Amino acid sequence: MKRLAVYLFTAMMILIGVVACQTETAQQYETRWAGENLEEIIASFENQFGGFDKTMMETGYRYNELYWAGQDGNWAYAEYQLDEMLGSLEDGFIRRPDRELSSAQFVNQAVPQLMETIQNEDREAFLQSFVRFASSCNTCHAMEEVPFVQVIIPELRTSLVKL
Ligand code: HEC
Repeated sequence: MKRLAVYLFTAMMILIGVVACQTETAQQYETRWAGENLEEIIASFENQFGGFDKTMMETGYRYNELYWAGQDGNWAYAEYQLDEMLGSLEDGFIRRPDRELSSAQFVNQAVPQLMETIQNEDREAFLQSFVRFASSCNTCHAMEEVPFVQVIIPELRTSLVKL
């Protein structure tokens, strides 16, 4: 009788163990959405990061923030946005290296010119330089065969940041 109780107890513990293990596996599977092996996981992450469009969505946001920062004379914020925009562009070139060539005029001319006006805290020069900056965005769009992406000088304030 006593032996039977021990057997029953052991069997119950094993059953509980199996159920617990299965639940754990199910949970692990659910959280490992990216794939079952390293190759699948890497491919999935690359896909999730996206190509150049994600970079450009960020660029568009920073472009708008940058413009209003200059309008407001919020020079620290303007410099921050231009730096972050460049950083995001560099990350984009890691994903899409072929795009880098067309951006040379933007990175080597338009960006340093605008940066100079920010560092001089010169609002008039900033606004003038911003027109060239915008047209440099569009030059790259033409070169990269997306001429329908024509950016304009922001007309409506949508930035949430104001000094
Ligand atoms: C490499 C040159 C290059 C430069 C420089 C560049 N762009 Fe782009 N942009 C592209 C390409 C290419 C696309 C299309 C995205 C794609 O094909 O994945 C694009 C798309 C966009 C889009 C549409 C994104 C979307 O999917 O909704 C916006 C907005 C944009 N760019 C804004 C800008 C602004 C603002 C600047 C300048 C501050 C700029 N771009 C500078 C190459 C460039």
